[in-house]
Amino acid sequence: APARIAVTGLAVMGSNLARNLARHGYRVAVHNRTPARTKALMREHGHEGEFVPAETLSELVESLATPRQIIIMVKAGTPTDAVIDELAPLLGPGDMVIDGGNAHFADTRRREAALRERGLHFVGAGISGGEEGALNGPSIMPGGSAESYKHVGPVLESIAAQVDGVPCCVHVGPDGAGHFVKMVHNGIEYADMQLIAEAYDLLHRVGGRGPAEVGEVFRDWDRGDLESYLVEITAEVLGHVDPDTGAALVDVIADEAEQKGTGRWTVQEALELGVPVTGIAEAVFARSLSGRVGQRAAARAAFGASEVIPSPDDDLVEDVRLALYASKVVAYAQGFDQMRAASVEYGWDLDLGAAATIWRGGCIIRARFLDRIREAYDRNPDLPSLLVDDYFRDAVVRAEQAWRRVVVKAINAGVPVPGFVSALAYYDALRSERLPAALVQGLRDFFGAHTYRRVDREGSFHTLWSGDRSQVDA
Ligand code: 6PG
Repeated sequence: APARIAVTGLAVMGSNLARNLARHGYRVAVHNRTPARTKALMREHGHEGEFVPAETLSELVESLATPRQIIIMVKAGTPTDAVIDELAPLLGPGDMVIDGGNAHFADTRRREAALRERGLHFVGAGISGGEEGALNGPSIMPGGSAESYKHVGPVLESIAAQVDGVPCCVHVGPDGAGHFVKMVHNGIEYADMQLIAEAYDLLHRVGGRGPAEVGEVFRDWDRGDLESYLVEITAEVLGHVDPDTGAALVDVIADEAEQKGTGRWTVQEALELGVPVTGIAEAVFARSLSGRVGQRAAARAAFGASEVIPSPDDDLVEDVRLALYASKVVAYAQGFDQMRAASVEYGWDLDLGAAATIWRGGCIIRARFLDRIREAYDRNPDLPSLLVDDYFRDAVVRAEQAWRRVVVKAINAGVPVPGFVSALAYYDALRSERLPAALVQGLRDFFGAHTYRRVDREGSFHTLWSGDRSQVDA
């Protein structure tokens, strides 16, 4: 019998996705550029379901029922284009190519347009959840034509994570929408992890608690509003002891955070759209800073390493918890703003509540919190900012004083908390009656005649700064 769907690219994400499909009863054709991996999959997991191994892409294509559905799970960028170029000529009208990698959404837009020209559907599907998710139920963010979703949707929904009986997969929107939403997911993932790391640093260095002890604090937090996968695994990582040295593992891991680029893309695109995603940007820059080993050594030599004297107090844990929660609300609010802006820019008509729904399970940022976000968009799909939704407004108001105490404490102690600080600055800026942007406009007008608008009447104005300083209409 012909296979229902195919997977090409059998590294760990690809094989796990193929296994997930097979376990759900789909007959899955599998292919890898080097056949050894296909053989390994068949040998180790062939018994888990109905697999159809293929040595070549044309064999893979021939084994499929029409319209064909082929999931590509190879490295983003050139390798993805190479597979598409080889695959497209083998396909017929109405066939579907699904890219499950972390593609840049602009590449997805380009590929979708190119395949559409050839009568093919291209589905850029963001997939989150790592290896475990791919196998047991990821969060899936497919973009592409509504027509292709009719075929691909039911399959993807069935293998996705399910929360309260609802699959963590919806048709996100046309062309690059799915990969865009996945990109913002990753940006938020960066911000979330940075905030968690700052909370750890504070409890450790200011609070004087060891890693395992802080791990216990996170375990406790995981039972409340902060309940989430990242908080849960923070407790795991902090509690882990290095078998070689007997030290906490976190103390022997090199403190240089790496990145594959999706966080950077989020910030680059936010700059293009003019959306302040300060939390994500700080997280990306914090990773970059950590990697600048030479500069860090030079600064330590020049200034002496900052010495933090622990000054634990009874409120610290609860204060940090509240600061973490409020900062997290800000980071998510910014990420959702970015999706809204992109939706307008690219005409995607994104449903932000749906994005929150599919992030409730399967993905790295899955959290109880996402239910609150979905409810906020249910209450008001046009919410100007998540922060102003009643639920989040109350949460932020409750956290505000603690948030300020934490930031002041960190600054006085010399513990860098760029995520907490910038989130608080964002909140304060957003709610300011007047911003010093007025002065920036004045300066721009002074040196470059860039003009300004007035609060009391329409129009653009310029002051004759080097003349008699009278005001003229611009
Ligand atoms: C996911 C993750 C996944 C991957 C990131 C890590 O949603 O499953 O986000 O996509 O872990 O690419 O990115 P960095 O290497 O840039 O941290």
